[in-house]
Amino acid sequence: MIKKNEFIIWGNYCNKCGNECSILQNEHHPWNDTTFSIKLKCNFCGNEVIVDKKHAEVFYNNKIYSYYNGLYGKVIDLGCGSGFLSRYLLNQNKIEKIYGLDEDKGCLDELSDIIKSEKKFEFINYDISNISKIFNFKSIDFLISRDVFMFIEDTDRYFEEITKIVNNGIRQIAWYLKDNSRMKNKLTPHQIANEYSKRGWNVELKYLDWYKYGYFINANKL
Ligand SMILES: C[S@@+](CC[C@H](N)C(=O)[O-])C[C@H]1O[C@@H](n2cnc3c(N)ncnc32)[C@H](O)[C@@H]1O
Ligand SMILES: [Zn+2]
Repeated sequence: MIKKNEFIIWGNYCNKCGNECSILQNEHHPWNDTTFSIKLKCNFCGNEVIVDKKHAEVFYNNKIYSYYNGLYGKVIDLGCGSGFLSRYLLNQNKIEKIYGLDEDKGCLDELSDIIKSEKKFEFINYDISNISKIFNFKSIDFLISRDVFMFIEDTDRYFEEITKIVNNGIRQIAWYLKDNSRMKNKLTPHQIANEYSKRGWNVELKYLDWYKYGYFINANKL
């Protein structure tokens, strides 16, 4: 069942005890559209915690990053954009190589700092539909993505090809909104999970109550 969630999380860490203090809100993405500062009471130690735009962004990003821990070896960051996930992964020692794949040439500029300074990172300007031309059978340990799946047109081809290329796991966060015109495929999170399962992946699907319309898929080879 699809759980429609219209909220995103605003939060900060308590500066006395480190507890996560947050609220869910349903307005604009705050760090782009809103100036705000709110006070919450830490429900662990009672301290007053201020959540402002800067802290809320860090808190939100950390929440996303927490789904991309424990990875190792060779990783594809599918639809890497300006490297939101890749930049986080660069700090994980067990990761040998990150291939940031994106069809948009414009990413070159946004990624120029890590392309120059990080040997571990390589940008590949390609469409996902050509992925098997670049990567060999079982040559990748993990495929990660955020906010990309809904832009894939030929999803059957995607599932077939990444199942051949990726050896260990998939971590995918994205949003699903029925009848949204930006989406290039109509697969619901549940259907996506089934497509992975059918191809031999052991799949866990979670709806994220803090990520607008969001879900997380954790798929591992059996
Ligand atoms: C919403 S952005 C997400 C960027 C990044 N993953 C992040 O978390 O900030 C979606 C990205 O997917 C890329 N993309 C969409 N369809 C693609 C495809 N078929 N092959 C490769 N990249 C694609 C877009 O160019 C864009 O950079
Ligand atoms: Zn506290």
